[in-house]
Amino acid sequence: MIPVPKPRRAGYSYAYELRPVNLGLLPERDAEAVLNSWAGFLNALSSPAQFRIVEHFREAAVGEDVYELRHMRYFLLTAEPIEDALNAAGFGGVRVPPSEVPELRIVANRGRFAVDADGKFVRCYTMLRVPAGTAPGWLTDLYPYVHEVRMELEPLESGRDEVMKRLHFLEAVAEARAREGRPIDPEMQQEMEAVRAAADAIAAGREELFLARVLLAIRADDANALAEASRALRSRLRGAIDSPLFMTEPMCTGRGPEWALGRRLHMTTGALVGFFPFAGLDMIDPTPTAVVLGQNLLTGNAVLYDVYERENYNIAIFGQTGYGKSTLIKAWVSRLAEADPDAYIWVFDSIVSPEYALGPSGRYEGSFAELIGARVLDLSEPQGLNPYDVFETPAAASSFIADLAGIVEPDLRAELNLIQAGDVYELIDKAEGSLKKRLEAGLKPFENLWAARSDLYGRQVFVLSNIASSTVRDAAAYLVLAWIWRTVKKLPVRERKMIVVDEGWAFVETDPRTGKPYFPGAVGFVPEIARTGRHYNAAFIIATQRVSDMMSGPGRVVMESAATKIVLRQDSAAIDLLAGPLSLSPEEQRFILGARVGQGLLISPLGHVPFRNLLSKGELERFTTKPKEVSR
Ligand SMILES: Nc1ncnc2c1ncn2[C@@H]1O[C@H](COP(=O)(O)OP(=O)(O)O)[C@@H](O)[C@H]1O
Ligand SMILES: [Mg+2]
Repeated sequence: MIPVPKPRRAGYSYAYELRPVNLGLLPERDAEAVLNSWAGFLNALSSPAQFRIVEHFREAAVGEDVYELRHMRYFLLTAEPIEDALNAAGFGGVRVPPSEVPELRIVANRGRFAVDADGKFVRCYTMLRVPAGTAPGWLTDLYPYVHEVRMELEPLESGRDEVMKRLHFLEAVAEARAREGRPIDPEMQQEMEAVRAAADAIAAGREELFLARVLLAIRADDANALAEASRALRSRLRGAIDSPLFMTEPMCTGRGPEWALGRRLHMTTGALVGFFPFAGLDMIDPTPTAVVLGQNLLTGNAVLYDVYERENYNIAIFGQTGYGKSTLIKAWVSRLAEADPDAYIWVFDSIVSPEYALGPSGRYEGSFAELIGARVLDLSEPQGLNPYDVFETPAAASSFIADLAGIVEPDLRAELNLIQAGDVYELIDKAEGSLKKRLEAGLKPFENLWAARSDLYGRQVFVLSNIASSTVRDAAAYLVLAWIWRTVKKLPVRERKMIVVDEGWAFVETDPRTGKPYFPGAVGFVPEIARTGRHYNAAFIIATQRVSDMMSGPGRVVMESAATKIVLRQDSAAIDLLAGPLSLSPEEQRFILGARVGQGLLISPLGHVPFRNLLSKGELERFTTKPKEVSR
């Protein structure tokens, strides 16, 4: 064992946990922007920083099944606060106590390897040079093989001097060789060119110079497994890494004399851009309320997704009928309902027939509603949806009533608006002349909506399909939506809310005869929910098989307000519409065109991930629709 002199304390007082930006999952343009931000971030560093990417295991539930998931956690340690630079670069991150950053604890040093406090076998490698042929973000290729990647960066104030010194040295050697008539070897020639370019870039202020140390720790259950992992890593990084005997402990822990901590390399910003560490093909949110969305078809790992971590909480789901939209919503929302037992959940059931309110056997027992503990409200029964209670202002209520009664004349609408009423009956009572007649006749079909009383519960499924008339159905849906929205605004912001509209086209649909929406009020209203929901901690989930409805008007606003989008199988006409707005690569378009039931593409600010909605046996039994409905 080597004597370990006085431990060298790293002196990092600040630690941040960052979220990976999935470079490989982003459209090319976005990936470039991320790398530019990364370069800017590096250039702004004024004191040493340490990047630590550490393996982590957690459990995730899928219905009654439990999976063990492995994923990386991403940390940045610094000597100074660095929130502003992180935010400026768009990396975000939350501050954590430095002691919470996981650290290997070595208890025995065996030369080739060390043993940690958990009895695992550990070995540490230091990087000697940048491996040939690597693309930006290449470090992530190692994440499946390593326990930890650690990158220490020290910006060199004297960057230009250092580079010039190296350049002069190389030039002197070259000159000496030329004098002796010996050739300059190509590697040296290459380095001279690189150093000259670096000197120029540094002089021009485009780049900075760093001392960088990159360490890789592997960890296994026994010596054999460790040897195998070593071989795998070495063969990937042919000659670019080294693991000196007895150095695992100082290299793994960063404690020891300078010479024992691993190789330090001079690197410019340009060279370091390729070392972008916060990338991965896995899509895993580390938050407790993240739920399993399915299996990542790129990595085989689970997609663990927390919609409340995005810039807004809306989800737009597209897909041909029968390819798994509703099943995905049921899986997603029920898992969320379990992860957050206090979340409010309101669901508008299918317009064809109840599938959230009733299970495959046609009863509440065995249904989605039962699973999340929701009450069912059948809107074909007499309700108490009083427009004057439901809307926020009397003007909004009278405008809605005028629309229902088909009153378009400005003078009649104005007259209606002037009447002070507490409910529809009082309104009709107080109206006079032709307005009264128009109201009586026009509102007759809608009477049921306000004939009784209704209660809004914390979790509720609304059944619209038993209403025969489509205009009454749309009025009911709109009233309930307004009712929910008003309630959402009154609830404490910290409580999560979720509004689900399966077959959401009904809410943004236009009348084909007039080309106008059925409910002019709703045109502003549905997008308002989508746009402002996050202020109230509310998520809006909308599913549709009619892509064209989402390409213009209110549908477009909803789509553009959804930070999370899911595309299940589509035909080529729909793909043509979606490809541009969603930046779908040709490969992704092919995938969607041939996607099987339950397969889809997750599109979020973190990147695009093809996935498969993986269900437990119990979930599938509960969520499936009856065969005759599947074909619809
Ligand atoms: N992830 C899945 N795994 C297995 N079967 C599925 C999955 N998703 C959907 N299905 C089956 O396909 C049927 C139709 O799916 P559904 O979600 O109702 O489609 P959509 O709402 O898009 O019309 C479901 O009733 C179920 O039997
Ligand atoms: Mg459906």
